[in-house]
Amino acid sequence: MSNHDEKPARKKISLTAKTEGDKPERKHKPARWSPLQRDRSKSAASEAKPAAKAEQRSHGPAAEGRTEKKHPPGHAGKAKGYREEGASGRPPRTPAKDGAYPRDGRDTRPTRSRDETGTEATPRRRSTPQAPAQLKFFVPCPRGLEGELAKELIELGAADAVAGSGGVKFSGDIALAWKVNLWSRLAIRVLQQVAEGNYRDEEDLYKVTLKQPWSDWFAVDKTIAIRTVAHNSPLKSLNFVTLRIKDAVCDRFRQDLEQRPNVDAREPNVPILIYLDQDRFTLYLDLTGEPLNRRGYRVEPAPAPLNENLAAALLKLSGWTPELPLLDPMMGGGTILLEAAMIALNMAPGIKRHFAFEHLISFDKVEWTRLRKDAEAGQKEPQLLPIYGCDIDPRMIRAAGLNLKAAGLLDCVTLREGDVMAIPAPAEHGMIVSNPPYGVRLDTDATFYKGLGDALKQHFAGWTAWLISGDAEFPKGMGLAASRRIPLYNGPLECRLYEYKLIAGTMRKKT
Ligand SMILES: C[S@@+](CC[C@H](N)C(=O)[O-])C[C@H]1O[C@@H](n2cnc3c(N)ncnc32)[C@H](O)[C@@H]1O
Repeated sequence: MSNHDEKPARKKISLTAKTEGDKPERKHKPARWSPLQRDRSKSAASEAKPAAKAEQRSHGPAAEGRTEKKHPPGHAGKAKGYREEGASGRPPRTPAKDGAYPRDGRDTRPTRSRDETGTEATPRRRSTPQAPAQLKFFVPCPRGLEGELAKELIELGAADAVAGSGGVKFSGDIALAWKVNLWSRLAIRVLQQVAEGNYRDEEDLYKVTLKQPWSDWFAVDKTIAIRTVAHNSPLKSLNFVTLRIKDAVCDRFRQDLEQRPNVDAREPNVPILIYLDQDRFTLYLDLTGEPLNRRGYRVEPAPAPLNENLAAALLKLSGWTPELPLLDPMMGGGTILLEAAMIALNMAPGIKRHFAFEHLISFDKVEWTRLRKDAEAGQKEPQLLPIYGCDIDPRMIRAAGLNLKAAGLLDCVTLREGDVMAIPAPAEHGMIVSNPPYGVRLDTDATFYKGLGDALKQHFAGWTAWLISGDAEFPKGMGLAASRRIPLYNGPLECRLYEYKLIAGTMRKKT
């Protein structure tokens, strides 16, 4: 068999762990994109273990005492002087018949009228139902994606969405926030603002937190955790802030109900977040819990995976549409392919998971079930899509297969093992969206980039490639003229997304 021959379809996939930095031997084997390749990934994936839950738990949400000093979730204009604003449209304090508060955020309190002498007359029912309360939300996202997220939120119905630094603000009723949780592909979480104002010290924060009607928002048997995120805060100990916020929530519950909620730092029912900048605070109920990028399909780890919301953003930014053949030739665990298949089938990214808002008094199971049912009804049946994935490492074929299987998408995507330097294009034209290995996390060098540039030019004429890299050497090494460069962040890593229009013979950069 020459180097250029197809590999036998039933090659055994090695599961032996490699040491870090170990690179699979590069085999220059262009091979056809055949159904056999798909069958092979299928059989690998059929060994799937139901490990999704364990992986999700190991990334528990906000922890009590956990404090972060980092980039802000984005804040607009500052008012002068001490000011605090409670949550608008908080649920009514009058219990419904069953003792519970109405759950849809509407104020259904009977109106009390006054007679001419000023005494209160008997309560009477409102004749028309009130509009749902308008709440304020903040939606953090990976830095650089604020504009795309604002567009996404507007499409979901948040007409006033405004991009800020690190996220997007919008207002609406609580059901809109559930919809964003269910449908946003770019957001990290949805935060419901309950108070904001100026502060000088921890005692200001304690007092304003104590004033909030926490027991209107969740029952005392729910567990809580506080997370403090600060940017340029003058306060010395953010742990102390976290502790004081927790004290205030518990003290307010004791005042109202003579009981206090317990703290669960790893998996709280009700995560609470306080954001501090130099002199202003914003207090939020975190409606999401585990970040939204944890869609519930990642069952098999891959080295240096992209965040799911960043992968979805690359597809958005590239302008890819589902009719266009898509290839990730260095797919790792297949994040880009999974996000693409979900977009193509109109699958809601949150359809397989739960959210913190399900623990709040404002939660309305009937309305939520309706939103989920609508999403399921709009989803296309899984079918073979023009989406292709490849990796030189056979363990990644298995990992991507397992992840696709967990998402119910294994039959939608064609996978194969191969070297990006040698594989043929799976279609005459299409789009490559990929996250090549780069220095910080995977061992690469200038010859790799040069080879990649050459291979794209030779084998993918007529295609457009969008490649994200955090390596400043990448564009030079590739030796191709990028038509666009979009700054983005992959976690803390500053990256660029480069667009290469691959037209044979005209791409090589003049040196
Ligand atoms: C940064 S990772 C991709 C991670 C992926 N986007 C994810 O979310 O899991 C880069 C991948 O490129 C693969 N790779 C490295 N050299 C390659 C080559 N010559 N051909 C194909 N794949 C290669 C590695 O095995 C690794 O899985």
